[in-house]
Amino acid sequence: MQNIAISYGTYYSYLRPSQLSLQKSFNIEAEVTTFNDGEMAVEFPDSIRGKHLFIFGDATHNLVELVMSIDAAVRSSAEKITVVLPMYNWARQDKKGKHRASIGASVLANILQGLGVHRVMSIDLHAEQIQGMFRIPFEHLSGLHLFTNQIKKVIYSSTTIYDDWVLCSPDAGGTVRVHKFAESLSLPYVIMSKKRDKPGSIESMELIGDVKDKSVIIIDDIIDTGGTLIKAVDHLYSAGAKEVICVITHPVLSNNAVDRLVNAEVFLITSNTRNTVKTLTEKQKQYINVVDCSDLFMDAILNVSNNNSIIKTLS
Ligand code: R5P
Repeated sequence: MQNIAISYGTYYSYLRPSQLSLQKSFNIEAEVTTFNDGEMAVEFPDSIRGKHLFIFGDATHNLVELVMSIDAAVRSSAEKITVVLPMYNWARQDKKGKHRASIGASVLANILQGLGVHRVMSIDLHAEQIQGMFRIPFEHLSGLHLFTNQIKKVIYSSTTIYDDWVLCSPDAGGTVRVHKFAESLSLPYVIMSKKRDKPGSIESMELIGDVKDKSVIIIDDIIDTGGTLIKAVDHLYSAGAKEVICVITHPVLSNNAVDRLVNAEVFLITSNTRNTVKTLTEKQKQYINVVDCSDLFMDAILNVSNNNSIIKTLS
């Protein structure tokens, strides 16, 4: 048995490998205590000396818990520490987009490396170049196969012939992503050009390409407020699309995004890299289909810890 331990932390209650034996054999729950003033402390109840510890974390909701867990692991003589960020946080700040602005993705990279992490693992980065912000190995997993399998099921169960489907990136930044899906599915794609006036608000959107009488699949990395998606869907229908579905890896789903999607009758395929999809109602599940990526992470973890190739999980 591999000398590994996995700490899911308090945020990731949802991502678990399907095999119960795998769940049980490696789990180590860190104990998190909080003083009255909010000061947080983390302790591993069992020995992790000499182990390869995989710490699942979320920097947006649980940054303090994540950094305290890493520190506790370093001080407990874990041999290697891999931080698993199912959704790499602060990724939309991947460059200095405005004057006097922060680059959050790089701040997170500096925090993790400064604490002595040996490796980072994530899936479907907002921008692939975020890997370059690290001097340590970055295992960038891909949800491509999980999602293309799901897309094929939708296409083959619809009345629209294969050649009438078109993929769409709702912004220019998603071109590389949609290109990969297009290659894998042998389908053409169109692009939308999106201009934001501020985070969470879209000033304008233009379509580059033809979707008249086509069935369209929007491909994106993050659905946050749902603003991009709903605007893109409207736009595609106005341009003559017959139907539109959406495939988006990270369901941030802030504010009332779920209700907005359901009210707009938008069909979304997403994953469980966020807990937001854990408590969907039966009605919401009619519109939001969640693809489980737990086993993909587990495969990568087992292969990394055995020094085996993880190439199958990368593309
Ligand atoms: C932006 O570049 C991302 O790829 C997503 O399109 C964006 O984060 C979605 O945000 P929202 O749902 O708030 O429009």
